[in-house]
Amino acid sequence: MRSLILFLFLSIPVQIMSQESVNGKYEEYILTPAPPQSPRINSPSLYGLRPGSPLIYRVPCTGERPIEFEAEDIPEGVLLNKETGIMTGIIEKPGSYTMILKAKNSFGHFSREFTLDVGDKLALTPPMGWNSWYIHYDRISDKTMREAADQMIATGMADYGYQYVNIDDCWMMKLKSEDVDINGKRRDKQGVIIPNKRFPDMKGMADYIHAKGLKAGLYISPGPSTCAGYEGSYKHEAQDAATFADWGYDFLKYDWCSYRKVAGKKSDPDYFIRPYLLMWDELQKQDRDIVLNLCQYGMGNVWEWGGEVGNCWRTTGDLGLEERKNLPGFYSIGLSNARHAKYAIPGGWNDPDYILIGWVGNAHGMAEGTPTDLTPNEQYSYMSMWSLMAAPLIFSGDMAKLDKFTLNVLCNHEVIEVNQDPLGKQAMLLEKTDHQFVMVKPMIDGSISVGIFNLNDEVKKITITWDDLEISGNKHIRDLWRQKDLGTFSDRFITEIQPHGVTLIRLFNE
Ligand code: GAL
Repeated sequence: MRSLILFLFLSIPVQIMSQESVNGKYEEYILTPAPPQSPRINSPSLYGLRPGSPLIYRVPCTGERPIEFEAEDIPEGVLLNKETGIMTGIIEKPGSYTMILKAKNSFGHFSREFTLDVGDKLALTPPMGWNSWYIHYDRISDKTMREAADQMIATGMADYGYQYVNIDDCWMMKLKSEDVDINGKRRDKQGVIIPNKRFPDMKGMADYIHAKGLKAGLYISPGPSTCAGYEGSYKHEAQDAATFADWGYDFLKYDWCSYRKVAGKKSDPDYFIRPYLLMWDELQKQDRDIVLNLCQYGMGNVWEWGGEVGNCWRTTGDLGLEERKNLPGFYSIGLSNARHAKYAIPGGWNDPDYILIGWVGNAHGMAEGTPTDLTPNEQYSYMSMWSLMAAPLIFSGDMAKLDKFTLNVLCNHEVIEVNQDPLGKQAMLLEKTDHQFVMVKPMIDGSISVGIFNLNDEVKKITITWDDLEISGNKHIRDLWRQKDLGTFSDRFITEIQPHGVTLIRLFNE
């Protein structure tokens, strides 16, 4: 009987992804099931902070509001707001504090364990959020940032764990410009950086974001100017770190840009690490937690040392500038990032750049946004690769134009759980040909998440065997995009995948 069931499973194509071209446009088929009306607390299951630093954490929870939140065994010094689910406070003593988070509404209740790890490590799971670059470029303003925070709540993204609202370049004064908004004194007499006129109140903006339980991020360069030609931190590192902390920022993207001009000789062994070490040390002195994102495009094998001076590091050039060859640029960037899997650890992640879907502006020319030209299949592949690679999940499209399809790609809690798994392993690339590849990520519960990617322009049937995966025994398999159990399999799995599509599954021991 068992072999008959197995035969049936193996002989029907397991994944049927319909993707027909309707009037030249691909049908945007939605795989992510709608969340239940009853509460569900989503990942992560742990969060790192330093002793004495202020905590702001909004419990990511779907379900019909109002939801009532409660926590059992909440550590001393921490409060959980019953109505908003926002946790605030300070924990003075290092340690691991596990509590039971509870959420209830008129449809039901939900509870799960959640750990605050108070020590010297931040970003114990990959940072999730939004960044302004690929949609607003030098048009970014205080108003747009505040609206992005509003939208993170209104669209439900925050209920899935998205929490950083990050300005990229162009919030400072520009070195050379005719525009009165951005052309002015770059620092005051004491050397404190002066934001441009589109950012009248950097502290007020961070407070606004924090009031929603979200976190604020910003950007600068270790060089005298940023890539877009705005004021950099060179020779003001300590002062800028203190200013960013004083304003209340929680995330800093530190972009090499013009640093080369002042960097000295390249043969110097410390050449690449020096500017990051300097800023890292300054951030450690602040009385708030600031996640440091290294942006220097993978120079000097940054993956080998990035974890000593930062929480995540870009491994490649800009994804938005990557040439489309036969395939869209996210494949080459992602596959290049995949090579550094062994260096990813909790608190130190390889960063293949942002999720560019929905409405994005072409980075060549910093254009206004238009809908992505990625097919739906490609978007599922993109999100699957980033999740398997434990990459920071930072969306950089238009928050004001998030449609149902884009949200279904960004907000599938089982897919995000792969990314946010506390074991913190990056998927290994198993098999890569011109036609297909497989990524395998071990999970904390002993299961494995597997992505099978079809690079062909046609539908393809792909078989993976337990030998390929180096596993044995019966496995219970779940389709993560559809959130559906597929049954029990004993030695192989066969799947039919659409052009440039993916099958993302999780294999549990029986
Ligand atoms: C690039 C960086 C981009 C963006 C841009 C801003 O160097 O890789 O992500 O930050 O600078 O000017």
